[in-house]
Amino acid sequence: MKKYIIISSVILLVISTNMIGLSSCAVSQKVKDKTGVQLWGENCGRCHNAPGPGEFSSANWEIIGRHMRIRTNITETEEKKIIEFLKSSNN
Ligand code: HEC
Repeated sequence: MKKYIIISSVILLVISTNMIGLSSCAVSQKVKDKTGVQLWGENCGRCHNAPGPGEFSSANWEIIGRHMRIRTNITETEEKKIIEFLKSSNN
């Protein structure tokens, strides 16, 4: 009887954590699918407007990416997507 209660509570726990979306794989998949422009809006736009693509050289964009990544606390993949967007957009 005791064994049955333990097993069924484990099963219930697994089912309920999946239902409320605590599965970490699902979250990281969403981040992976986001575009540079989305990531800019969610992470960078809260502090300042987007600079124009011609405002900085390639070498400077690299440094800016690293610098702002620390401020924003994002991953390297997100940083690269955002910098690609800023370098190429006509804002
Ligand atoms: C917490 C606020 C904050 C966030 C978030 C932030 N920035 Fe900045 N950013 C600043 C400040 C302040 C400056 C100007 C002074 C400096 O460079 O420290 C700046 C400057 C810049 C510049 C001008 C060049 C330079 O280095 O001075 C660029 C380009 C830039 N940010 C891009 C980004 C990008 C891309 C992101 C998102 C990954 C981002 N920022 C996120 C605060 C922020």
